Amino acid sequence: MKSYEDLAGDGGSNIVEQVVSQQGKLRARLDKIKHKVVLMSGKGGVGKSSITANIAACLADQGRTVGILDADLNGPSICHLLGVDRSKKLVIDESGVEPGVGHLGVKIMSMDMLLPDPDSPVIWTEDKGASAVWVSTMESTALRELLMDTKWEELDFLLIDMPPGSDRIDNIRDLIPELEGVVEITIPSPVSQHIVSKSITKNTRMGVSVIGLVENMATYVCPHCDQEGALFAGEDAHGLAQGKGIPYLGKIPFDPRISQKRDGLFYTENKDSLTGKAIAELVENILKFIENKAK
Ligand SMILES: Nc1ncnc2c1ncn2[C@@H]1O[C@H](COP(=O)(O)OP(=O)(O)O)[C@@H](O)[C@H]1O
Ligand SMILES: [Mg+2]
Repeated sequence: MKSYEDLAGDGGSNIVEQVVSQQGKLRARLDKIKHKVVLMSGKGGVGKSSITANIAACLADQGRTVGILDADLNGPSICHLLGVDRSKKLVIDESGVEPGVGHLGVKIMSMDMLLPDPDSPVIWTEDKGASAVWVSTMESTALRELLMDTKWEELDFLLIDMPPGSDRIDNIRDLIPELEGVVEITIPSPVSQHIVSKSITKNTRMGVSVIGLVENMATYVCPHCDQEGALFAGEDAHGLAQGKGIPYLGKIPFDPRISQKRDGLFYTENKDSLTGKAIAELVENILKFIENKAK
């Protein structure tokens, strides 16, 4: 098999020009966005998407312009959480795709918007022999296109809701080298902390700035009396943050109202609850980190 180095020139595909032009397009898109923040966890089901959606609502509520890239290509949930009307057809022209608009005007791009109906799964190829490497390459390409082709326009924040696992951050880091950093999310359980610990180590080794650690579902809040109690046995996550030398950004209590289906979002409807206040404090800590980084 020939490697591309064996080809005289670029084999006639103008590959170099194509790459340069794509990079230019991506740059032009991202240069209009002030702060890019990733929300991730090595672990699934710890509340990445719920926290992303509620942080977006809090930032928008404070008058900031916000977008969310739903980077969970195989399990997209941001459209559902922010109430994007999927019955509208995608508006596409040569300059790109209009993002979906969710609660409080948050701009959204998600695989969900490209599927024929809300119940369709994402299927990358009908080829049963397709290798995992090939599927992964298709996923990388899709991620770049969602980021590059969306008409985000001027934004204060772009939040990136990651899939479970620690692998996709490599892609995001390459696409957005100016990232402010990543917010790592864990729940108090030892198994979650164990996996998130690896994710933090990986980011630190890759030179990706870690904004800090959030402990979700840290306690239980009774929706009737707003009293807090322990939810999981075991250590809180202060020790993990301390051990890794990263800031502890706060704990978000478990509140059943977060998972209720509603028109708005938990944060906007429950700002004064313990969990609502915890979300606002988390946002404040992220803003402080960004401010200090700029100094
Ligand atoms: N603080 C919380 N209180 C109550 N339920 C929560 C909380 N955080 C997340 N959830 C619920 O946990 C489930 C998983 O959350 P999700 O945001 O989808 O996680 P992830 O994106 O990490 O997979 C969802 O049903 C969500 O409503
Ligand atoms: Mg999710």
